[in-house]
Amino acid sequence: MAEEKMVRVCVTGAGGYIASWLVKLLLSKGYLVHGTVRDPGNPKNGHLKSLENAPDRLRLFKADILDYDRILAAVSGSAGVFHLACPVPLDKVENPEVDLLEPALTGTRNVLKASLEAKVRKVVVVSSVTTVAMTADPRPKDQPLDETVWSDVEYCKLREYWYCVAKTLAEMEALEFSKRTGLNITTICPSITIGPMLQRTLNASSSYFLEIMKGTKPLENIGTCFVDVRDTAEAILLVYESPEAEGRYICSASETSMKELVSMLKEVYPAYNYQKSYEEVQNAVSLSSVKLQNLGWKHRAFKETLNDTIHNYREAESLSTNGTAS
Ligand SMILES: NC(=O)c1ccc[n+]([C@@H]2O[C@H](COP(=O)([O-])OP(=O)(O)OC[C@H]3O[C@@H](n4cnc5c(N)ncnc54)[C@H](OP(=O)(O)O)[C@@H]3O)[C@@H](O)[C@H]2O)c1
Repeated sequence: MAEEKMVRVCVTGAGGYIASWLVKLLLSKGYLVHGTVRDPGNPKNGHLKSLENAPDRLRLFKADILDYDRILAAVSGSAGVFHLACPVPLDKVENPEVDLLEPALTGTRNVLKASLEAKVRKVVVVSSVTTVAMTADPRPKDQPLDETVWSDVEYCKLREYWYCVAKTLAEMEALEFSKRTGLNITTICPSITIGPMLQRTLNASSSYFLEIMKGTKPLENIGTCFVDVRDTAEAILLVYESPEAEGRYICSASETSMKELVSMLKEVYPAYNYQKSYEEVQNAVSLSSVKLQNLGWKHRAFKETLNDTIHNYREAESLSTNGTAS
């Protein structure tokens, strides 16, 4: 395809877990991709250069999400922007204002303002189901949460769920920005995303899943929702490519308790040191991805995700093949 006929898009935080799969997908579909990374020379972004079609179609831009001018340079000339750059901490952060709220909020603001200035046609902001499901009230399992529901920011602040606070405020602001300026902005809220990693360093959700495999952390028998990273990338692109897409989209495929998850894993991989006892908690959350499915989104079977995830961890030597954690 001649370069001038190819659609140019920008992906922020291109070297991250979900973004890497999105970049791979975009390159395979013939898009020209501008990817922002904080440090293009860092080996942790090296995998991007070896993606198929990357030499001709991927250009990396050095940009901290807090640096407006660099973000503007990266989005300039793009028809679409996918905003994924955001810290995703595994544990408690030292300084929530600096470590989370600032990059999530100012970062999103910068991307949206730059997109408006650069006359981008459509922006997809990757939010999270933590913007939907975090409230003090118990949620009936037979009433799946949909896009009309928002997490309670005051409750999250009180419990110091700073990632949820940051993502909820950023997503609300993005949708508000769309109303105010007319910029076409859609948000997508994935649940815990697992599946093979393209990058070499361990991201937070993969690390969390690895802990389950290794049995190294005490587990609550909590109801948990998962989605495959490859299906998440497909969903992000689907939302971008669907002219009728509007507002928010929950993106979640499977719901399971920790006990059920571990017994599924044990069936296929009996050798690992799984957790033997759990703290029982009553908080099963059910999420509806019907709005996304109505756009045509399909997801793979959970067993396939589990198999491919473990296979990938073994290949990356994060999990040994003889039943011990490496
Ligand atoms: N994984 C999940 O389970 C999950 C679920 C729902 C939503 N999400 C959302 O999906 C997006 C991607 O998450 P992920 O799981 O792929 O995490 P990830 O691998 O940690 O990727 C996050 C990316 O954000 C970049 N970033 C962080 N702070 C930045 C800053 N100040 N300036 C520029 N870039 C910055 C990181 O770049 P560096 O490499 O330079 O640090 C990294 O590339 C995030 O918005 C996250 O909230 C993730």
